[in-house]
Amino acid sequence: MEFIQLQPLSRAAGTVKLPGSKSISNRMLLLAALAAGDTEIRDLLDSDDTRVMLAALAKVGVRVTAIGQNAYRVTGCAGVFPDKDADLFMGNAGTAIRPLTAALGLSGGHYRVSGVPRMHERPIGDLVDGLRQIGCDVRYTGNAGYPPLEIFPARVNLAAPIRVRGDVSSQFLTALLMALPLTGKTAVIEMTTELISKPYIEITLNLMARFGVTVEREGWQRFTIPAGQGYRSPGVVHVEGDASSASYFLAAGAIGGGPVRVEGVGRQSIQGDVKFANALETMGARISWGDNWIEARAPAHGQLKAFDLDLNHIPDAAMTLAVAALFADGKCTLRNIASWRVKETDRIVAMATELRKLGATVEEGDDWIAVSMPPSEPAGAVSRAPTLQANVGIDTYDDHRVAMCFALAALGGVPVRINDPGCVAKTFPHYFDALGAIAAPVVAIDGPSASGKGTVAQRVAAALGFHFLDSGALYRLTALATLRDQISLDDEAAVAAVAANLPAEFAGEKIILSGEDVTEAIRTEEVGIGASKIAVLPAVRSALLERQRAYRRFPGLVADGRDMGSVIFPEAEVKVFLTASAEARAERRYKQLIDKGMPDNMRPLLQDILQELRVRDARDAARSVAPLRRCDDADLVDTTELNIDEAVAAVMESVRRRLPFFN
Ligand code: DC
Repeated sequence: MEFIQLQPLSRAAGTVKLPGSKSISNRMLLLAALAAGDTEIRDLLDSDDTRVMLAALAKVGVRVTAIGQNAYRVTGCAGVFPDKDADLFMGNAGTAIRPLTAALGLSGGHYRVSGVPRMHERPIGDLVDGLRQIGCDVRYTGNAGYPPLEIFPARVNLAAPIRVRGDVSSQFLTALLMALPLTGKTAVIEMTTELISKPYIEITLNLMARFGVTVEREGWQRFTIPAGQGYRSPGVVHVEGDASSASYFLAAGAIGGGPVRVEGVGRQSIQGDVKFANALETMGARISWGDNWIEARAPAHGQLKAFDLDLNHIPDAAMTLAVAALFADGKCTLRNIASWRVKETDRIVAMATELRKLGATVEEGDDWIAVSMPPSEPAGAVSRAPTLQANVGIDTYDDHRVAMCFALAALGGVPVRINDPGCVAKTFPHYFDALGAIAAPVVAIDGPSASGKGTVAQRVAAALGFHFLDSGALYRLTALATLRDQISLDDEAAVAAVAANLPAEFAGEKIILSGEDVTEAIRTEEVGIGASKIAVLPAVRSALLERQRAYRRFPGLVADGRDMGSVIFPEAEVKVFLTASAEARAERRYKQLIDKGMPDNMRPLLQDILQELRVRDARDAARSVAPLRRCDDADLVDTTELNIDEAVAAVMESVRRRLPFFN
């Protein structure tokens, strides 16, 4: 895809289950490969950078077996890679090439290591220098100081401490720390400069300890790996959610009202990037923490506040703060971020260039940038910068984080185009779906039976180019599947299990159940009655909850059904209660029957239909679970006197009023 066009967004709220952490995934894969014994890794990140690591491990003869969704069994090689000669392509994955180079240097084999062109511009000299000090034979085959590399067997001598710089990338230290236990000897590393990005070293030490190797640390200056330690599999390990990826959603909550909750990181996280939440808090965002979640909301009053922060400890998440700065009430200064220059792209240049396109004034130095926007009035609970330049095309420099953080600019109520959005696959292939699930606008339409809401909702979705959720069809599908499985409609647990695993898909106009077209079959009277029976079972409703929320995607969603505006999408920007007099609805139902082939000489039937509708309305309004009721914040559209076109126009009027950006 050349670009993704994000429509203006007005608010963000909801819950995101984070993909696995990149830093933890790639470290765990290598540690498991080097360990004695099998390791089962669960919740591994599925992305370009982890695929690079998996492919490289396979090339050096490590057996990795997929055993489920994002779960792998790694058969450890106890420190000795089986294959002694290999060509390894490391893409643009710094978390793969650095630690692997160090491990290969100590492996007694002959390896060639390369990457994409940008990888050949990213420094690795400090690591190679460190490895050469202990006798490793690592040579540059392109430019000195940069990949590609060729590695030869060598005799290692650990008599003297390894002296290494820590001011370009902390990954060089991580690489040495992870590889040195392979020697079995005491190894000492001394930093010759200040160490940057320290929290990443904490991740490294934490994971090494889980695999049975402890490191003695004197400040951030000297690290000793005592002799005789080897990696041992801890058995089963879980990868926590990615804290850098969490930053985009937390910022969305802080900018777009919230609450936005991320699941997979929290108080217990070992990733330094969770401190991004503290940085947001200094901007005035309201943050709450659980063991395994973090939640962000906009400030109680007014706009996000300007900041001046040293962000050396969270260099990746700091990019998200640079975009949050567009929404702040003054100049925001991000300091001590020199490592931005040697990442996927020169991030200081990239961020400054793209922020300026949106109208920001950006000053930049060697290791800092400052971002300010012309002052703006806060709009309600949503602190937005209405002065953002609209319709800007954001270039992404093959840098996943540039693409991800600039998507948040759409919360400023302007359309934003993100060029080459596919680059997010480096760490978060489904990023735009995940963002859509908390920020895409929702039009929720409810109303009594035969109010015509299904047809109207579908037409409104088509007019807006939005996705469409016919939630009634999900209840009907559940009823049909239950009846076909000969399960009792009263057996709440069994019906809920059917709902949770519904093998159904919506293919354009067609509705498919287990491969069979059931578009007509779910519209029978029997299935309708079954649907209304199972729809009062709370376990069934909650089984369908996430499935319904998953329909919320860019550019937006029109959702039709009972509890769309109250339970499923309480934050829906537009809520419409579509109704008509019982007489008008009975008349429409009668006409429908004639359209379906019933002879037009059954007028007395109309009375029966009317009576039935009244009973159904009363039952629907009285039921304790998801009763038929107009939400306080829903617009009432009475279609008694309206034809379909007029009803659609009335709903579109509501949309225009509530989604002003869509004009
Ligand atoms: O709109 P419909 O007739 O296709 O809905 C089928 C049944 O499911 C109906 O009894 C209402 C119920 N339903 C519900 O309880 N909640 C929804 N969100 C949608 C439908």
